[in-house]
Amino acid sequence: MVENSQIQLVEKPTTVNLNRFVKPIDIKKLVAQYGTPLYLIDEDTLHAKAKELHKAYSKFKGQVKVAYSIKANFTPAILKAFMKDGIAFDLTSLGELYFIKQCKADPENIIYTSVTEELEEYIEVLQSGVRRIVVSSFNGMTNLSKAASKIGGAAPLTMIRVNPEVGVKAEVRASYRNSKFGVPLNGGTIDSTAKMIKHLMGSDLLKFEGFHFHLGSQITDFSCYTHALDKMDAFIIKMKKENPAFQVNTFDIGGGTPIFYNDPVPTPAQMAENHISKLNQLAETHGTSTLMIESGRFLVAESSILVSRIVNTKEYNEHKIVIVDAGYHILLDAALLKQEYPQEVVPVVSDSKDKTTALATVKNTHLAGRLCDTYDVFPLSKVSDLSESEVGRYVSFYNVGAYSVVFNMPFHCQTKPPIVMKDSDGKFRLVRKGTTHDQLFREEGGELE
Ligand SMILES: Cc1ncc(COP(=O)(O)O)c(C=O)c1O
Repeated sequence: MVENSQIQLVEKPTTVNLNRFVKPIDIKKLVAQYGTPLYLIDEDTLHAKAKELHKAYSKFKGQVKVAYSIKANFTPAILKAFMKDGIAFDLTSLGELYFIKQCKADPENIIYTSVTEELEEYIEVLQSGVRRIVVSSFNGMTNLSKAASKIGGAAPLTMIRVNPEVGVKAEVRASYRNSKFGVPLNGGTIDSTAKMIKHLMGSDLLKFEGFHFHLGSQITDFSCYTHALDKMDAFIIKMKKENPAFQVNTFDIGGGTPIFYNDPVPTPAQMAENHISKLNQLAETHGTSTLMIESGRFLVAESSILVSRIVNTKEYNEHKIVIVDAGYHILLDAALLKQEYPQEVVPVVSDSKDKTTALATVKNTHLAGRLCDTYDVFPLSKVSDLSESEVGRYVSFYNVGAYSVVFNMPFHCQTKPPIVMKDSDGKFRLVRKGTTHDQLFREEGGELE
């Protein structure tokens, strides 16, 4: 097994190629048609990412299923693109289920992992034909059991979301002690994996299928996966001693595959190399035939660019403040997680009329959003290039496909930007209309007054 410390990282951030799937001339045309801010999505990148993630785990001696965590970006055009790849969908709410049903995805391809786990919720999930459910509490398991009894038919394949309680070095961690996610392996209360397994093994209504864990997001130190899998191995051995018939058919190792923002990150293949032999050993010793890899960020982030327009600049001592018509209302993680999206001033299209002379480079350039809020200043990536910032020019924010559109909010009465997709045939297509102030006014109750 390759230890994480041995993985060779790309050393120079400058070697990172940003996904410039849209040429400056096309940006010029698209912003003339749709205005700014404007999200752009590249369909080919979505397919390439789905393929890359699946391939990374191809050494697993069983079936590998990649599931797209739609919480990262539920734009229907993205869901439909992934349906072409035949991948599964990881859902966590009835709203997401509605979206997926509207896109006519096969319920067999859905894994449903709820935080709320209510009876009515599970009834609707089972009625929709979803069979693979991850339970995260004893109450949740009881509700699923009641829902299964009400609906009838084959017992749902029930997985337990465990909290392996391993340290995770990442900005977003989901495996810390006493967290809201999953249950501990040997907890002292009914919310314990060991106790829930005993219940499941004796149930006619639910069929135990396997385990699920999700350690965090944008994980670059993979030792947490090895630690978690070692813990699971020891736990399964213990369970088998108590009940030799115990078998784990599916193992779902959640999300976390990282993407480039500011520092180079290992590839999915390097990530898989870290724990593939452990996964194979689990498969051999415990009969696990299916490995599930969930991913939100990796599958969608690099597919998307946000184009904004520079609306103002000012100079303050040796600093230059560049203000764009975007803000954290459409890129929330810039404020929440200090996400350093790579930014770049869009080169001028070489028809002479529009050509501008580059300003003398001002050393300390700050890129700020349009909101009247202290946090609305965008952290810069090491590869950001704002050297030609000037009013009227455009700034592209790269790798914004994950956890951005889904957080669009109307702070300062801001509307939602339109989204355009570059289809695999190279054509640009509007896949979400922008909203208007009038729509927002009515949504906020204006028409009731
Ligand atoms: C259960 C579960 N699986 C997968 C993911 C996706 O994680 P990522 O976007 O880091 O791949 C999340 C994200 O919150 C999650 O909660």
